[in-house]
Amino acid sequence: MLVPELSTLASLDLTEVAGLDDLHLPRNVIQEAALLMAEAYAARESFFLVNGATSGIHALFMSMQPPSGKVLLPRNAHRSFFGGMVLAGTSPVYIPGQIDHVLGVALTVLSEDIEDLLGENPDAEAVFITSPSYYGSSCDIEGIEPAVHAANALLLVDEAHGGHFPFHRAYPRPALQCGADAVVNGLHKTLPVLNQGACLHLGKDFPNRDKVFAAYSLLTTTSPSYPILASLDLARELMCQRGEALLDRAWHLAGEYRKKIQQLKGLDCHGEAEMQQIPGLKEIDPLKLLIIPRGLSIDGFELAQILRDSYKIEVEHADNKFILAMMSMFHERADWESLYRSLEDIAGKYAGKQPDGLRLELPPWPQLSLLPREAFMAASRTVRLKDSQGLIAAEMVAPYPPGIPCLLPGELISPEIFSYLEFLQKSRVHLQGPHDPSLNYLKVIE
Ligand SMILES: Cc1ncc(COP(=O)(O)O)c(C=O)c1O
Repeated sequence: MLVPELSTLASLDLTEVAGLDDLHLPRNVIQEAALLMAEAYAARESFFLVNGATSGIHALFMSMQPPSGKVLLPRNAHRSFFGGMVLAGTSPVYIPGQIDHVLGVALTVLSEDIEDLLGENPDAEAVFITSPSYYGSSCDIEGIEPAVHAANALLLVDEAHGGHFPFHRAYPRPALQCGADAVVNGLHKTLPVLNQGACLHLGKDFPNRDKVFAAYSLLTTTSPSYPILASLDLARELMCQRGEALLDRAWHLAGEYRKKIQQLKGLDCHGEAEMQQIPGLKEIDPLKLLIIPRGLSIDGFELAQILRDSYKIEVEHADNKFILAMMSMFHERADWESLYRSLEDIAGKYAGKQPDGLRLELPPWPQLSLLPREAFMAASRTVRLKDSQGLIAAEMVAPYPPGIPCLLPGELISPEIFSYLEFLQKSRVHLQGPHDPSLNYLKVIE
Protein backbone atom coordinates (compact mmCIF):
# COMPACT_ATOMS: atom_id res chain seq x y z
CA MET A 1 0.00 0.00 0.00
CA LEU A 2 1.28 3.46 -0.84
CA VAL A 3 1.36 6.05 1.92
CA PRO A 4 -1.45 8.60 1.35
CA GLU A 5 0.87 11.46 0.26
CA LEU A 6 2.62 9.21 -2.19
CA SER A 7 -0.63 7.92 -3.62
CA THR A 8 -1.82 11.50 -4.20
CA LEU A 9 1.37 12.18 -6.08
CA ALA A 10 1.18 8.89 -7.93
CA SER A 11 -2.37 9.61 -9.08
CA LEU A 12 -0.97 12.54 -11.07
CA ASP A 13 1.94 10.57 -12.45
CA LEU A 14 0.29 9.21 -15.54
CA THR A 15 1.91 7.93 -18.66
CA GLU A 16 1.34 7.93 -22.40
CA VAL A 17 -1.94 6.01 -22.36
CA ALA A 18 -4.90 6.55 -24.68
CA GLY A 19 -6.01 10.19 -24.56
CA LEU A 20 -2.74 11.45 -23.13
CA ASP A 21 -0.89 11.80 -26.42
CA ASP A 22 2.79 11.15 -27.19
CA LEU A 23 5.44 13.81 -26.59
CA HIS A 24 7.44 12.40 -29.50
CA LEU A 25 4.53 12.52 -31.93
CA PRO A 26 2.03 14.95 -30.46
CA ARG A 27 -1.39 14.78 -32.08
CA ASN A 28 -3.93 15.70 -29.44
CA VAL A 29 -3.62 17.07 -25.88
CA ILE A 30 0.14 17.68 -25.98
CA GLN A 31 -0.11 19.20 -29.44
CA GLU A 32 -2.93 21.44 -28.27
CA ALA A 33 -0.98 22.54 -25.20
CA ALA A 34 2.15 23.15 -27.31
CA LEU A 35 0.17 25.30 -29.76
CA LEU A 36 -1.18 27.38 -26.88
CA MET A 37 2.34 27.71 -25.46
CA ALA A 38 3.69 28.83 -28.84
CA GLU A 39 0.91 31.38 -29.11
CA ALA A 40 1.66 32.74 -25.62
CA TYR A 41 5.36 33.15 -26.50
CA ALA A 42 4.78 34.35 -30.08
CA ALA A 43 6.77 31.37 -31.32
CA ARG A 44 6.37 29.37 -34.52
CA GLU A 45 6.48 26.21 -32.42
CA SER A 46 7.23 25.29 -28.81
CA PHE A 47 8.61 22.01 -27.48
CA PHE A 48 8.02 21.00 -23.86
CA LEU A 49 11.19 20.08 -22.02
CA VAL A 50 11.07 17.71 -19.04
CA ASN A 51 14.79 17.84 -18.26
CA GLY A 52 15.27 21.54 -17.74
CA ALA A 53 16.58 24.27 -20.01
CA THR A 54 19.68 22.09 -20.25
CA SER A 55 17.96 19.67 -22.62
CA GLY A 56 16.77 22.47 -24.91
CA ILE A 57 20.29 23.88 -25.07
CA HIS A 58 21.64 20.41 -25.84
CA ALA A 59 19.02 19.95 -28.58
CA LEU A 60 19.94 23.25 -30.24
CA PHE A 61 23.63 22.30 -30.30
CA MET A 62 22.76 18.86 -31.65
CA SER A 63 20.66 20.40 -34.42
CA MET A 64 23.69 22.16 -35.84
CA GLN A 65 25.67 19.97 -38.07
CA PRO A 66 28.92 19.94 -39.95
CA PRO A 67 30.46 21.18 -42.27
CA SER A 68 31.73 23.61 -39.65
CA GLY A 69 29.90 22.92 -36.40
CA LYS A 70 31.30 26.28 -35.35
CA VAL A 71 29.35 28.32 -32.80
CA LEU A 72 30.06 31.69 -31.16
CA LEU A 73 29.21 31.67 -27.46
CA PRO A 74 30.04 33.57 -24.28
CA ARG A 75 32.93 32.20 -22.30
CA ASN A 76 30.86 32.24 -19.08
CA ALA A 77 27.88 30.34 -20.53
CA HIS A 78 26.05 27.81 -18.35
CA ARG A 79 27.64 24.35 -18.18
CA SER A 80 24.87 22.96 -20.43
CA PHE A 81 26.63 24.75 -23.32
CA PHE A 82 29.69 22.62 -22.71
CA GLY A 83 27.49 19.50 -22.60
CA GLY A 84 25.88 20.55 -25.88
CA MET A 85 29.28 20.97 -27.50
CA VAL A 86 30.40 17.55 -26.28
CA LEU A 87 27.27 15.95 -27.72
CA ALA A 88 27.44 17.78 -31.02
CA GLY A 89 31.20 17.98 -31.63
CA THR A 90 30.95 21.78 -31.78
CA SER A 91 33.96 23.98 -32.40
CA PRO A 92 33.57 26.93 -29.98
CA VAL A 93 34.53 30.53 -30.67
CA TYR A 94 34.34 32.49 -27.43
CA ILE A 95 32.85 35.97 -27.21
CA PRO A 96 34.48 38.20 -24.56
CA GLY A 97 32.11 39.25 -21.77
CA GLN A 98 31.51 42.81 -20.54
CA ILE A 99 32.42 42.96 -16.87
CA ASP A 100 30.57 44.82 -14.14
CA HIS A 101 33.55 45.78 -11.98
CA VAL A 102 31.42 46.52 -8.92
CA LEU A 103 29.93 43.03 -8.86
CA GLY A 104 32.97 41.42 -10.44
CA VAL A 105 30.98 39.38 -12.95
CA ALA A 106 30.44 39.34 -16.72
CA LEU A 107 26.97 40.56 -17.66
CA THR A 108 26.68 40.95 -21.42
CA VAL A 109 28.33 40.57 -24.80
CA LEU A 110 28.80 43.31 -27.39
CA SER A 111 27.36 43.36 -30.90
CA GLU A 112 30.68 44.80 -32.16
CA ASP A 113 32.61 41.81 -30.78
CA ILE A 114 30.14 39.41 -32.37
CA GLU A 115 30.40 41.20 -35.70
CA ASP A 116 34.21 41.03 -35.61
CA LEU A 117 34.20 37.35 -34.67
CA LEU A 118 31.71 36.55 -37.43
CA GLY A 119 34.05 38.36 -39.86
CA GLU A 120 36.92 36.13 -38.71
CA ASN A 121 34.73 33.00 -38.75
CA PRO A 122 32.53 33.23 -41.83
CA ASP A 123 31.70 29.52 -41.48
CA ALA A 124 30.06 30.00 -38.06
CA GLU A 125 26.65 28.35 -38.01
CA ALA A 126 25.22 30.12 -35.01
CA VAL A 127 25.70 32.68 -32.29
CA PHE A 128 24.37 31.28 -29.03
CA ILE A 129 24.19 33.87 -26.26
CA THR A 130 22.75 34.07 -22.75
CA SER A 131 20.19 36.78 -22.10
CA PRO A 132 19.21 37.56 -19.43
CA SER A 133 22.28 36.66 -17.46
CA TYR A 134 21.87 34.81 -14.20
CA TYR A 135 22.04 38.27 -12.59
CA GLY A 136 19.10 39.60 -14.61
CA SER A 137 20.88 41.74 -17.24
CA SER A 138 19.76 41.42 -20.83
CA CYS A 139 21.87 41.92 -23.97
CA ASP A 140 21.05 44.20 -26.86
CA ILE A 141 19.62 41.39 -28.97
CA GLU A 142 18.09 43.76 -31.49
CA GLY A 143 21.53 45.28 -31.99
CA ILE A 144 23.20 41.88 -32.32
CA GLU A 145 20.63 40.33 -34.67
CA PRO A 146 21.48 42.13 -37.96
CA ALA A 147 25.14 41.07 -37.93
CA VAL A 148 24.25 37.46 -37.16
CA HIS A 149 21.71 37.19 -39.94
CA ALA A 150 23.91 39.08 -42.39
CA ALA A 151 26.52 36.36 -41.74
CA ASN A 152 23.89 33.72 -42.52
CA ALA A 153 24.12 32.35 -38.99
CA LEU A 154 21.36 31.58 -36.50
CA LEU A 155 20.81 33.63 -33.37
CA LEU A 156 20.04 31.32 -30.46
CA VAL A 157 19.35 32.57 -26.95
CA ASP A 158 19.56 30.89 -23.57
CA GLU A 159 16.74 32.83 -21.92
CA ALA A 160 16.51 30.37 -19.03
CA HIS A 161 15.78 33.14 -16.52
CA GLY A 162 13.42 35.16 -18.71
CA GLY A 163 10.31 32.99 -19.09
CA HIS A 164 8.15 35.72 -17.54
CA PHE A 165 9.31 38.52 -19.86
CA PRO A 166 6.58 38.24 -22.53
CA PHE A 167 3.78 38.94 -20.08
CA HIS A 168 4.56 42.52 -19.01
CA ARG A 169 6.11 45.44 -20.87
CA ALA A 170 8.13 46.68 -17.90
CA TYR A 171 10.31 43.56 -18.02
CA PRO A 172 13.12 43.09 -20.56
CA ARG A 173 11.91 42.49 -24.10
CA PRO A 174 11.80 38.75 -24.88
CA ALA A 175 14.56 37.55 -27.21
CA LEU A 176 12.11 36.09 -29.75
CA GLN A 177 10.56 39.53 -30.20
CA CYS A 178 14.04 40.99 -30.76
CA GLY A 179 14.83 38.70 -33.70
CA ALA A 180 16.24 35.55 -32.08
CA ASP A 181 15.72 32.37 -34.12
CA ALA A 182 15.29 30.06 -31.13
CA VAL A 183 15.03 30.55 -27.41
CA VAL A 184 15.19 28.25 -24.39
CA ASN A 185 13.16 29.22 -21.30
CA GLY A 186 13.78 27.47 -18.00
CA LEU A 187 10.19 28.04 -16.99
CA HIS A 188 10.58 26.28 -13.64
CA LYS A 189 12.90 29.13 -12.61
CA THR A 190 10.48 32.04 -12.82
CA LEU A 191 6.99 30.61 -13.32
CA PRO A 192 4.97 28.24 -11.10
CA VAL A 193 6.28 25.18 -12.95
CA LEU A 194 7.63 21.98 -11.41
CA ASN A 195 11.39 21.58 -11.41
CA GLN A 196 12.79 20.55 -14.79
CA GLY A 197 9.83 22.03 -16.69
CA ALA A 198 11.14 24.22 -19.51
CA CYS A 199 10.44 25.13 -23.13
CA LEU A 200 12.29 25.41 -26.40
CA HIS A 201 10.66 27.95 -28.73
CA LEU A 202 11.43 28.38 -32.40
CA GLY A 203 11.08 31.80 -34.02
CA LYS A 204 8.77 32.45 -36.95
CA ASP A 205 11.45 31.99 -39.62
CA PHE A 206 13.40 29.16 -38.04
CA PRO A 207 14.84 27.19 -40.96
CA ASN A 208 15.72 23.76 -39.49
CA ARG A 209 12.65 22.77 -37.52
CA ASP A 210 12.95 19.05 -38.32
CA LYS A 211 16.59 18.90 -37.26
CA VAL A 212 15.75 20.51 -33.92
CA PHE A 213 12.80 18.21 -33.37
CA ALA A 214 14.93 15.15 -34.20
CA ALA A 215 17.60 16.26 -31.70
CA TYR A 216 14.95 17.09 -29.09
CA SER A 217 13.32 13.68 -29.50
CA LEU A 218 16.68 11.90 -29.39
CA LEU A 219 17.54 13.55 -26.08
CA THR A 220 14.11 13.23 -24.43
CA THR A 221 12.91 10.33 -22.32
CA THR A 222 10.16 8.15 -23.74
CA SER A 223 8.47 8.34 -20.31
CA PRO A 224 7.99 12.08 -19.86
CA SER A 225 6.65 13.26 -16.52
CA TYR A 226 3.00 14.26 -16.91
CA PRO A 227 3.04 16.31 -13.70
CA ILE A 228 5.82 18.42 -15.25
CA LEU A 229 3.97 18.69 -18.56
CA ALA A 230 0.73 19.61 -16.79
CA SER A 231 2.51 22.26 -14.71
CA LEU A 232 3.86 23.83 -17.92
CA ASP A 233 0.37 23.99 -19.36
CA LEU A 234 -1.20 25.33 -16.17
CA ALA A 235 1.50 27.98 -15.79
CA ARG A 236 0.96 29.08 -19.39
CA GLU A 237 -2.75 29.44 -18.71
CA LEU A 238 -2.12 31.36 -15.50
CA MET A 239 0.32 33.72 -17.23
CA CYS A 240 -2.08 34.36 -20.11
CA GLN A 241 -4.91 35.13 -17.72
CA ARG A 242 -3.22 36.78 -14.73
CA GLY A 243 0.46 37.15 -15.62
CA GLU A 244 0.29 40.83 -16.43
CA ALA A 245 -1.44 41.68 -13.14
CA LEU A 246 0.91 39.52 -11.09
CA LEU A 247 3.99 40.93 -12.78
CA ASP A 248 2.64 44.43 -12.42
CA ARG A 249 2.27 44.06 -8.68
CA ALA A 250 5.75 42.51 -8.44
CA TRP A 251 7.23 45.34 -10.51
CA HIS A 252 5.71 47.99 -8.24
CA LEU A 253 6.92 46.17 -5.12
CA ALA A 254 10.38 45.82 -6.66
CA GLY A 255 10.53 49.54 -7.42
CA GLU A 256 9.44 50.48 -3.91
CA TYR A 257 11.72 48.06 -2.05
CA ARG A 258 14.75 48.57 -4.27
CA LYS A 259 14.62 52.24 -3.21
CA LYS A 260 14.13 51.36 0.45
CA ILE A 261 17.02 48.89 0.50
CA GLN A 262 19.20 51.41 -1.29
CA GLN A 263 18.52 53.87 1.53
CA LEU A 264 19.78 51.47 4.21
CA LYS A 265 23.14 52.59 5.50
CA GLY A 266 25.91 50.28 4.35
CA LEU A 267 23.89 48.48 1.66
CA ASP A 268 23.58 49.14 -2.06
CA CYS A 269 20.87 47.73 -4.24
CA HIS A 270 22.66 47.58 -7.58
CA GLY A 271 20.18 48.84 -10.13
CA GLU A 272 19.42 50.17 -13.56
CA ALA A 273 21.56 53.28 -13.20
CA GLU A 274 24.79 51.45 -12.26
CA MET A 275 24.24 48.62 -14.67
CA GLN A 276 23.55 50.94 -17.59
CA GLN A 277 27.27 51.79 -17.43
CA ILE A 278 28.03 48.32 -18.80
CA PRO A 279 28.42 48.41 -22.57
CA GLY A 280 25.88 46.26 -24.38
CA LEU A 281 23.54 45.99 -21.41
CA LYS A 282 20.02 46.70 -22.54
CA GLU A 283 17.62 46.10 -19.64
CA ILE A 284 17.44 44.45 -16.24
CA ASP A 285 14.91 42.17 -14.61
CA PRO A 286 13.49 44.16 -11.67
CA LEU A 287 12.93 40.96 -9.68
CA LYS A 288 16.61 40.12 -9.38
CA LEU A 289 17.98 42.14 -6.46
CA LEU A 290 21.76 42.46 -6.35
CA ILE A 291 22.55 43.66 -2.86
CA ILE A 292 26.07 44.78 -2.00
CA PRO A 293 27.09 45.08 1.69
CA ARG A 294 29.47 47.86 0.71
CA GLY A 295 29.56 49.61 4.09
CA LEU A 296 29.25 46.55 6.34
CA SER A 297 31.91 44.45 8.01
CA ILE A 298 30.63 41.29 6.29
CA ASP A 299 31.01 40.03 2.74
CA GLY A 300 28.30 38.60 0.48
CA PHE A 301 28.79 35.01 1.69
CA GLU A 302 28.42 36.09 5.31
CA LEU A 303 25.36 38.20 4.52
CA ALA A 304 23.68 35.20 2.87
CA GLN A 305 24.58 32.99 5.82
CA ILE A 306 23.16 35.46 8.36
CA LEU A 307 19.94 35.82 6.33
CA ARG A 308 19.60 32.03 6.27
CA ASP A 309 20.51 31.30 9.91
CA SER A 310 18.90 34.21 11.70
CA TYR A 311 16.07 35.32 9.42
CA LYS A 312 15.14 32.13 7.54
CA ILE A 313 15.65 33.85 4.20
CA GLU A 314 17.36 31.83 1.50
CA VAL A 315 18.90 33.90 -1.26
CA GLU A 316 19.47 32.60 -4.76
CA HIS A 317 23.21 33.20 -4.83
CA ALA A 318 26.03 34.66 -2.79
CA ASP A 319 29.33 35.97 -4.02
CA ASN A 320 32.20 37.70 -2.33
CA LYS A 321 30.87 41.16 -3.08
CA PHE A 322 27.09 40.70 -3.22
CA ILE A 323 24.05 38.54 -2.80
CA LEU A 324 21.40 37.86 -5.41
CA ALA A 325 17.90 37.81 -3.92
CA MET A 326 15.46 36.42 -6.45
CA MET A 327 11.94 37.64 -5.95
CA SER A 328 8.93 36.24 -7.74
CA MET A 329 5.54 37.52 -8.79
CA PHE A 330 4.08 35.51 -5.90
CA HIS A 331 5.97 37.27 -3.15
CA GLU A 332 3.55 39.38 -1.15
CA ARG A 333 4.26 42.76 0.34
CA ALA A 334 4.89 40.96 3.66
CA ASP A 335 7.73 38.95 2.06
CA TRP A 336 9.40 42.06 0.64
CA GLU A 337 8.96 43.78 3.99
CA SER A 338 10.51 40.84 5.80
CA LEU A 339 13.56 40.93 3.50
CA TYR A 340 13.83 44.67 3.99
CA ARG A 341 13.48 44.48 7.81
CA SER A 342 16.07 41.71 8.00
CA LEU A 343 18.52 43.72 5.92
CA GLU A 344 17.82 46.78 8.07
CA ASP A 345 18.58 44.76 11.18
CA ILE A 346 21.78 43.34 9.72
CA ALA A 347 22.89 46.77 8.50
CA GLY A 348 22.51 48.06 12.08
CA LYS A 349 24.43 45.17 13.62
CA TYR A 350 27.31 44.91 11.17
CA ALA A 351 28.07 48.53 10.31
CA GLY A 352 31.78 48.80 9.71
CA LYS A 353 34.58 48.44 7.27
CA GLN A 354 34.27 45.90 4.48
CA PRO A 355 36.65 42.97 4.71
CA ASP A 356 39.40 43.27 2.10
CA GLY A 357 37.83 42.56 -1.24
CA LEU A 358 39.20 40.07 -3.67
CA ARG A 359 41.38 41.38 -6.43
CA LEU A 360 39.43 40.92 -9.65
CA GLU A 361 41.78 39.29 -12.11
CA LEU A 362 40.37 38.30 -15.46
CA PRO A 363 41.67 35.00 -16.81
CA PRO A 364 44.01 35.02 -19.81
CA TRP A 365 42.39 34.14 -23.15
CA PRO A 366 42.11 30.36 -23.68
CA GLN A 367 44.02 28.31 -26.26
CA LEU A 368 42.01 25.39 -27.60
CA SER A 369 43.99 22.21 -28.23
CA LEU A 370 41.09 19.76 -28.47
CA LEU A 371 37.40 20.25 -29.18
CA PRO A 372 35.16 19.82 -26.11
CA ARG A 373 33.96 16.47 -27.49
CA GLU A 374 37.51 15.21 -28.13
CA ALA A 375 38.55 16.26 -24.63
CA PHE A 376 35.52 14.58 -23.09
CA MET A 377 36.26 11.32 -24.90
CA ALA A 378 40.01 11.35 -24.13
CA ALA A 379 41.56 9.49 -21.21
CA SER A 380 42.74 11.70 -18.36
CA ARG A 381 45.17 11.53 -15.47
CA THR A 382 45.87 13.61 -12.40
CA VAL A 383 49.06 15.64 -12.08
CA ARG A 384 50.40 18.11 -9.54
CA LEU A 385 49.58 21.67 -10.50
CA LYS A 386 53.28 22.50 -10.60
CA ASP A 387 53.78 19.83 -13.30
CA SER A 388 50.80 20.86 -15.42
CA GLN A 389 52.30 23.61 -17.58
CA GLY A 390 52.17 22.75 -21.28
CA LEU A 391 49.59 19.95 -20.75
CA ILE A 392 45.94 19.98 -21.81
CA ALA A 393 43.24 20.39 -19.16
CA ALA A 394 40.69 17.64 -18.67
CA GLU A 395 38.51 19.58 -16.24
CA MET A 396 37.00 23.03 -15.85
CA VAL A 397 38.45 25.65 -13.52
CA ALA A 398 36.10 28.63 -13.07
CA PRO A 399 36.94 31.21 -10.39
CA TYR A 400 34.14 33.28 -8.74
CA PRO A 401 34.62 36.18 -9.22
CA PRO A 402 34.62 36.72 -12.17
CA GLY A 403 32.70 33.51 -12.98
CA ILE A 404 34.57 33.13 -16.25
CA PRO A 405 36.31 29.76 -16.69
CA CYS A 406 40.06 30.06 -17.03
CA LEU A 407 40.22 26.46 -18.26
CA LEU A 408 37.77 24.17 -19.96
CA PRO A 409 38.53 20.57 -20.92
CA GLY A 410 40.67 20.52 -24.07
CA GLU A 411 42.45 23.82 -23.38
CA LEU A 412 46.19 24.27 -23.12
CA ILE A 413 47.73 25.12 -19.75
CA SER A 414 49.84 27.86 -21.30
CA PRO A 415 52.44 29.78 -19.24
CA GLU A 416 49.87 32.59 -18.75
CA ILE A 417 47.14 30.18 -17.63
CA PHE A 418 49.64 28.39 -15.39
CA SER A 419 50.55 31.68 -13.62
CA TYR A 420 46.85 32.49 -13.29
CA LEU A 421 46.19 29.08 -11.69
CA GLU A 422 48.99 29.77 -9.22
CA PHE A 423 47.40 33.14 -8.45
CA LEU A 424 44.02 31.42 -7.89
CA GLN A 425 45.60 28.92 -5.56
CA LYS A 426 46.86 31.72 -3.34
CA SER A 427 43.68 33.80 -3.38
CA ARG A 428 40.38 33.15 -1.61
CA VAL A 429 38.23 32.88 -4.71
CA HIS A 430 35.65 30.12 -4.95
CA LEU A 431 36.40 27.64 -7.68
CA GLN A 432 33.88 25.67 -9.65
CA GLY A 433 34.94 22.63 -11.63
CA PRO A 434 38.21 21.19 -10.36
CA HIS A 435 38.00 17.86 -8.49
CA ASP A 436 40.61 19.24 -6.09
CA PRO A 437 39.37 22.69 -5.00
CA SER A 438 42.74 23.42 -3.37
CA LEU A 439 44.21 23.15 -6.90
CA ASN A 440 47.17 21.11 -5.71
CA TYR A 441 46.22 18.60 -8.37
CA LEU A 442 44.64 19.00 -11.78
CA LYS A 443 43.16 16.52 -14.25
CA VAL A 444 44.85 16.62 -17.63
CA ILE A 445 44.48 14.73 -20.87
CA GLU A 446 46.70 11.63 -21.13
C1 LIG B 1 21.72 30.80 -17.60
C2 LIG B 1 21.30 29.37 -17.41
N1 LIG B 1 21.09 28.61 -18.51
C3 LIG B 1 20.70 27.32 -18.42
C4 LIG B 1 20.52 26.74 -17.19
C5 LIG B 1 20.07 25.30 -17.12
O1 LIG B 1 18.77 25.23 -16.65
P1 LIG B 1 18.10 23.90 -16.06
O2 LIG B 1 18.57 23.77 -14.65
O3 LIG B 1 16.64 24.17 -16.19
O4 LIG B 1 18.54 22.76 -16.89
C6 LIG B 1 20.73 27.48 -16.01
C7 LIG B 1 20.55 26.86 -14.69
O5 LIG B 1 20.77 27.43 -13.67
C8 LIG B 1 21.13 28.84 -16.14
O6 LIG B 1 21.36 29.60 -15.06
